[in-house]
Amino acid sequence: MKTMKAIQVKEYGDESVLNYTDVDRPEPKADEILVKVHAAAVNPVDWKIREGSFGMKLPLILGAEFAGTVEETGADIEKFKIGEAVYGKIVLGCYAEYVVVKEKDLGRKPNNLDFKNAASIPMGALTSWQAIFDAANLKSGQKILIHAASGGVGSMAVQLAKAKGAYVIGTASGRNKDFVKNLGADEFIDYTTTNFEDAVKDVDVVFDTIGGDTLKRSFQVLKKGGFLVSIAGKPSEELAKEYGVETKYISSVSNPEQLEEITKLAEENKIKTFIEHVFPLSEAKKAQKLSKERHTRGKIILVP
Ligand SMILES: NC(=O)c1ccc[n+]([C@@H]2O[C@H](COP(=O)([O-])OP(=O)(O)OC[C@H]3O[C@@H](n4cnc5c(N)ncnc54)[C@H](OP(=O)(O)O)[C@@H]3O)[C@@H](O)[C@H]2O)c1
Repeated sequence: MKTMKAIQVKEYGDESVLNYTDVDRPEPKADEILVKVHAAAVNPVDWKIREGSFGMKLPLILGAEFAGTVEETGADIEKFKIGEAVYGKIVLGCYAEYVVVKEKDLGRKPNNLDFKNAASIPMGALTSWQAIFDAANLKSGQKILIHAASGGVGSMAVQLAKAKGAYVIGTASGRNKDFVKNLGADEFIDYTTTNFEDAVKDVDVVFDTIGGDTLKRSFQVLKKGGFLVSIAGKPSEELAKEYGVETKYISSVSNPEQLEEITKLAEENKIKTFIEHVFPLSEAKKAQKLSKERHTRGKIILVP
């Protein structure tokens, strides 16, 4: 059996349970692809899984977002060839030198981006696509408020909404004002100095990536018939009735057709990436500690 380096979790807990170790290298079944990981992105879901929030079976290897090259293909795989540069979003397994994925999890890596920058796209872009287009049906000319517009998801949402022709208002703290405006946002609200509900009204769509009080207060800025979509908490049905708006909580999934559209947008320079920190895989503890502070601009990347 071949081995590989990976970050393995054998028990739930804080960063100390992240164990950089040798594990068996996975082998692809007939309908699977073995990808050599060149870069893996760190996402909040990784440390939520690590803490036991999803009750997943242990031991496990974290990591939901990656870019790399096809190393081996199962007998039934036709779409991808050995050596091809790919990227994608899965649930587990990317904090490793190799990961096994299904064809539906993979997209063609944008050819204008290196592996680190490519790895910083799929989670944010697919989640944003499914929230603002599939769920909220955002249209050109509509007004959208995007919370945490400087984060991994929000920074993609701003750019996708702009590419669609929407009017975009983004929230973050003041240090991210220029960053969010440079992504294309028409307006910026510093949540540390301004209550967004005092500064915005009559929006068509709110994209909530924060949950809690932010989600609750977001009802106030929607026009009647507007749409509140969240990836961070279940919107209240009572408030939806009271304000006359539609709501949805979504959990994003891999989608190869959407990923191909996202690849094209990246190749047309309509999606910019931003990486705040790069760590070797062996320093995953440091990377997750930073992610949990909830002030990452763009993404944190691990390199196996
Ligand atoms: N349901 C799903 O399918 C799904 C998919 C992906 C992500 N998620 C969840 O969505 C959330 C966001 O993910 P992410 O990767 O975008 O997180 P992230 O990159 O860690 O977000 C960090 C950003 O949030 C900003 N921020 C922090 N508090 C804020 C506030 N009160 N108002 C506005 N901005 C604030 C920070 O800006 P400042 O430094 O300026 O404060 C920072 O740039 C996480 O909880 C994640 O688990 C869910």
